Amino acid sequence: MKHLVAPSLLAADFLHLRQEMEMINESEADWLHIDVMDGVFVPNISFGFPVLEAIRDICRKPLDVHLMIVEPQKFINEVAALGAYIMNVHYEACIHLHRVVGAIREAGMKAAVTLNPHTPVSMLEDIIRDVDMVLLMSVNPGFGGQKFIEHSVDKVARLKEMILSKGADTLIEVDGGVNAETGRRLLNAGADVLVAGNYVFKAQDQKQAIKNLKEL
Ligand code: DX5
Ligand code: ZN
Repeated sequence: MKHLVAPSLLAADFLHLRQEMEMINESEADWLHIDVMDGVFVPNISFGFPVLEAIRDICRKPLDVHLMIVEPQKFINEVAALGAYIMNVHYEACIHLHRVVGAIREAGMKAAVTLNPHTPVSMLEDIIRDVDMVLLMSVNPGFGGQKFIEHSVDKVARLKEMILSKGADTLIEVDGGVNAETGRRLLNAGADVLVAGNYVFKAQDQKQAIKNLKEL
């Protein structure tokens, strides 16, 4: 499968969201990545459902919703009602991860599990076949524009190995500090989906930045 690119809304110009969404619609982006933060699971607050509903009405790309919140299971119905394609919950935020993943799928969405930089991929061994995608954080979640954590490349390789050895078809997404250089290395290691915030939205030519990532 050709890899996918998911620009991250967090780095968009919030005073010009309509233009930013038009750019995304016209671009080669595969998904729009959406970071919801609660100020508890991560030390920052981003945006919530009223903003996402407005975006959903004008964005023609599938929504990849990344919840950086405690008790994400409480919002499965709301995320489904948004029309999200895939819902990401953090491993570190779910006591009953298997139940949450099942509930996300039952609500009609793809289920993804996100790992913080300190969480080893081995924690997913017993659930990997039930998960549509694993999102590896390559920065500590909460902020855009941070420096890429190097061990992420090796983590992608180890996760890929686990997926193959279990006969699963789980996708690997990476989020944080992704640009053309780190993106290339992540793809070589086995990544399927690249999330990019600053690299795309702060670029002089945003559509070209997306194209650059697509052409890696
Ligand atoms: C970080 C978010 C990321 C962020 C990535 O908590 O999950 O999606 O927007 O931003 P960049 O690509 O600028 O590191
Ligand atoms: Zn994210």
